[in-house]
Amino acid sequence: MAEINLLAKYPRAKRNLTARKQAQAESRMVARQFGREYFDGTREQGYGGYRYDGRWGPIARDIAAHFKLEPGDRVLDIGCAKGFLMRDLMAVVPGLEAWGLEISQYAIENCHPEAKGRILRGTAQKLPFAANSFAAALSINVVHNLGYDACVEAVREMERVAPGRGYIQVAAYRNADERDIFLDWVLTADTFGKPEMWRELFQRAGYTGDYYWTIIEISPA
Ligand SMILES: C[S@@+](CC[C@H](N)C(=O)[O-])C[C@H]1O[C@@H](n2cnc3c(N)ncnc32)[C@H](O)[C@@H]1O
Repeated sequence: MAEINLLAKYPRAKRNLTARKQAQAESRMVARQFGREYFDGTREQGYGGYRYDGRWGPIARDIAAHFKLEPGDRVLDIGCAKGFLMRDLMAVVPGLEAWGLEISQYAIENCHPEAKGRILRGTAQKLPFAANSFAAALSINVVHNLGYDACVEAVREMERVAPGRGYIQVAAYRNADERDIFLDWVLTADTFGKPEMWRELFQRAGYTGDYYWTIIEISPA
């Protein structure tokens, strides 16, 4: 199990904390439905427009190198949204089979054309795949949306389908300032804490894959 940032090349987001703070209680309810508003509504409710722009390309290359992915390998992206990372993984490693698992019907219906038919609807807690059936399983900013016990189950499921070949990224904070920003910004997270909390959760789930943190940063207004 290693702490490694496979999203190092993900562009830094510009975040306007004041606007989101004002809108929060209602926005949280809306966001947690993971429908159109969350992906393609306003920034207060979620992404403010989740569109393919190629940003996952360099990350797909890093993931492919890290897991030594080859044509014919199967990769699972849990909480894959519209399948953009899946699409880029298949472009980076031609012949790779990328599969996705999503709770959002909206995301599946509006997925990238190259991900069509490759995303199953379901929840991370119960993956509809056989044990040891993937060369890698990824879950980026997803499992923290579950309550603690469900989150442990989701991590255990990742380990089951790709033992020792997982990559989990979750929201975390390292100090009180980061925690304050986190609480003001995050709309959907249910399980959160410091890296120590996550390491303990991973151990409890018997997880032996890799992981990293999403630390919320605010850009100056
Ligand atoms: C913050 S987004 C991350 C999307 C994508 N992984 C990325 O990094 O751009 C969280 C995603 O997880 C999905 N999701 C939330 N709860 C889930 C669950 N229990 N099982 C599967 N997917 C879930 C949401 O619909 C959404 O697409």
